[in-house]
Amino acid sequence: MPDNPHGSDTDPENLRAFIAAGLERARMRTHALTACDEEDLLKQHSPLMSPLVWDLAHVGSQEEIWLVRDVGKMEPLRCDLDQMYDAFQHPRSARPSLPLLSPVEARKYIAEVRTKALDILDRTPLEGSPLVDRGFAFGMIIQHEQQHDETMLATHQLRVGVPVLQARALPASVLPTGRDSFAKEVLVPAGPFIMGTSAEPWALDNERPAHEVDVPGYWIDTIPVTNGAYWSFIDDGGYRNPRWWTAQGWAHVREAGLVAPKYWERNGDRWIRTRFGVVELVPEDEPVQHVCWFEADAYARWAGRRLPTEAEWEKAARHDPRSGRSRRYPWGDEDPAPHHANLGGSALRPSPAGSYPGGASPLGVRQLIGDVWEWVSSDFRPYPGFNAFPYQEYSEVFFGPDYKVLRGGSWAVDPAACRGTFRNWDYPVRRQIFAGFRTARDASQTMVR
Ligand code: AVJ
Ligand code: FE
Repeated sequence: MPDNPHGSDTDPENLRAFIAAGLERARMRTHALTACDEEDLLKQHSPLMSPLVWDLAHVGSQEEIWLVRDVGKMEPLRCDLDQMYDAFQHPRSARPSLPLLSPVEARKYIAEVRTKALDILDRTPLEGSPLVDRGFAFGMIIQHEQQHDETMLATHQLRVGVPVLQARALPASVLPTGRDSFAKEVLVPAGPFIMGTSAEPWALDNERPAHEVDVPGYWIDTIPVTNGAYWSFIDDGGYRNPRWWTAQGWAHVREAGLVAPKYWERNGDRWIRTRFGVVELVPEDEPVQHVCWFEADAYARWAGRRLPTEAEWEKAARHDPRSGRSRRYPWGDEDPAPHHANLGGSALRPSPAGSYPGGASPLGVRQLIGDVWEWVSSDFRPYPGFNAFPYQEYSEVFFGPDYKVLRGGSWAVDPAACRGTFRNWDYPVRRQIFAGFRTARDASQTMVR
């Protein structure tokens, strides 16, 4: 792959090649994830999700709005589609009843947009305004398509009784078995660190600006909480004891009838799960996924611990105690490589907890990037000095107490949409996303359990 835009390479032709490759990689993935029967593309598999054909045209619609019209200053291709593919106009549950483009029309439309976007890439100087500096708008659109690709994977996981589309469409990658020994938790000494970024060219508005945060000392789990550990919480009656839950969490558990992570089912004295249409035993050493924030929070309390704050998560992931700098990733400043983290989506699952010693932080915390999104305790809020860019609907309208933050990125995230500063968010009841968690405790607290 051509050199990345973050390194010392400042040749605009290399940056253009890097962007074109990123656009192409996202598009290959979009096509692979929509290479199913027409009926399956049009159908709503869950009220939580759009029909896949909505995501398909929506990625083209956003590309048209930002790259063709805004950056390229070209005539609109299809103004008439703006409303239909505006996520704020129609909730996901209402999208199947819209007069959506058919799969054939949608593919044709996004291909036309892409041809124009590539022309614009060729002739646009990648400097001179915040929108185009170092290819920002193109990077935003690559990340946007990749985010919808992950959303489409969550939709596929929700389809019932379907024999794995992705097993055909995507080569399964080989995961490490990483089973060396390591401490259960790591002490992060008290002190300030730099949170967020002002330098990362493709960082989105909510990751900015860089600012200092003083963090009291804490311990954080070396690895994400595993299925096996979570199973002990279930066996201990965790879902039946209000003591471990917040009032809101307990009300939700009762009302939704939660007894285990989504997709788990009891089978004799074992747990089984359905993963992309395949029924299998729940592997004990894999990070737990498909738990909501309330479940993560309750487990942590049961374990005598708590979820890390967002600042604690990011300090564990980025702070280098030797230099005092915050780095782009736990392992340093280099872009993710296969030995760092399980990313990209082809594994279709998290790797065993404890894998990827090569992706560990300087203090030895593992799997902060990839495998599972990690719920943290914090609400989604702007950093001091936040500026909505390039539109308020990207982040600003979601700030407040309704959304909890997720960090790190799952196995389904592409490296282009992943870095130590990246912030994701969702409602605390959401379980269809590829989310798990790790726990923490104050340095001053003695171990309870
Ligand atoms: C950052 C994953 C919460 O999917 O709602 C996609 C990303 N924004 N299209 C989402 C996004 C607009 C967003 N998340
Ligand atoms: Fe979108």
